[in-house]
Amino acid sequence: MRIDVISIFPEYLNPLQLSLVGKAIEGGLLDLKIHNLRDNTADPHRTVDDSPYGGGPGMVMLAEPWGAALDEVIVADSVLIIPTPSGEVFSQSVAEQLAQKRHLVFACGRYEGIDSRVADHFATKAQVLELSIGDYVLAGGEVAALVVIEAVARLIPGVLGNSESAADDSFAATEHGRLLEAPVYTKPASWRDLAVPEVLLSGNHAEIAKWRLQQAQQRTQQRRPDLTGD
Ligand code: ADE
Repeated sequence: MRIDVISIFPEYLNPLQLSLVGKAIEGGLLDLKIHNLRDNTADPHRTVDDSPYGGGPGMVMLAEPWGAALDEVIVADSVLIIPTPSGEVFSQSVAEQLAQKRHLVFACGRYEGIDSRVADHFATKAQVLELSIGDYVLAGGEVAALVVIEAVARLIPGVLGNSESAADDSFAATEHGRLLEAPVYTKPASWRDLAVPEVLLSGNHAEIAKWRLQQAQQRTQQRRPDLTGD
């Protein structure tokens, strides 16, 4: 998969060189390019924003540098992702769909967002998704892009090792629906007077699977009743 990220703070994306995503890049499973939006400005101040038409607080990002930056990277099978609190809510099922794509482009806005004509224009050239990572407001789209890229990258075949399957994750689609993961334990079997549930030490795989499913269903019911039936 190829991923392009455009931002006025390209250093914000540096953590993508670490850990799982970093290894996917090193291993050639992911081709990641970070671009500085200001490289697409033509004035000496490298201006990227202006006051909003209609008035109101804050600044809006200019269509012109975004248009120039996106013209360089968007092709017909790209998905342009614009992180914004006013987008559709990102979820594991959206991550699963994005993991099937060949090319993702992230347009990380700041301030009050990007002139809406940018999304309208590129919707005539490629798929455009405005995505929110949750019901809170960040200072810009970079952290949201990090979240979406990490969630998608671990679903690309070969990125997780054999021992780390995405099938058992919280929110993974199962025959029982999307459930939170059951609690997990490792050695020692007793820690500060707290014992690991007996069944996990039994070696009985059918009983362990049954216990995990029951725990997952109970947790989901208690913590995320909204997931039931998904
Ligand atoms: N930019 C600012 N807040 C955001 C959010 N919640 N999700 C995605 N992008 C954002």
